[in-house]
Amino acid sequence: MPDFTCVLDKDKIKKQISRTAEIISTDYRGRELVLVGVLKGAFLFLADLARELTLERVKIDFLQASSYGADTVSSENIVLKKDIDIDIRGKDVIVVEDIVDTGLTLSYLIAHLKTFGPSSIKVCAMIDKKERRKAAIHVDYVCCSVEKGFLVGYGLDYAEDFRNLPQIYHMKL
Ligand code: XMP
Ligand code: MG
Repeated sequence: MPDFTCVLDKDKIKKQISRTAEIISTDYRGRELVLVGVLKGAFLFLADLARELTLERVKIDFLQASSYGADTVSSENIVLKKDIDIDIRGKDVIVVEDIVDTGLTLSYLIAHLKTFGPSSIKVCAMIDKKERRKAAIHVDYVCCSVEKGFLVGYGLDYAEDFRNLPQIYHMKL
């Protein structure tokens, strides 16, 4: 059985999401916003963040990318598994990610989304994990920063397990 240490408890998650939602609501006041969640990891984060926004017009869509392999090291071979359905041309978009690690997934997804001609694209991540960053990605809205480690829970998985945990844990294999 793996060894788990809690790094973000329920209260902290709630507090950080409220804070982030308040900043986004101020930044996008009076504008229409499209949240694009990155499946599967961002499903809980997006659901909680979206409910805290105090904007009148928020659209929600999802896409899914995958890197080959099911281990804990991000691969550089990224493929698009599911594309967005909403037309984002001329729209303000925020990509909502669970965790940014090397940044390769996000840079791939942002380049892809730009081909649809949105008027702006920003990034919101539950966790910014900085140690292994390879792509020059700016994460505009961050709930929590960590240096390193493999995290599970609150959407994050290890081989598809543990996504349902309500808190975020550091997992020692
Ligand atoms: P990159 O390296 O492209 O990776 O920024 C982003 C994706 O890699 C997965 N990832 C993790 N998944 N715990 C997880 O459950 C982690 O600590 C972790 N680090 C990276 C995740 O799918 C993320 O979207
Ligand atoms: Mg992910």
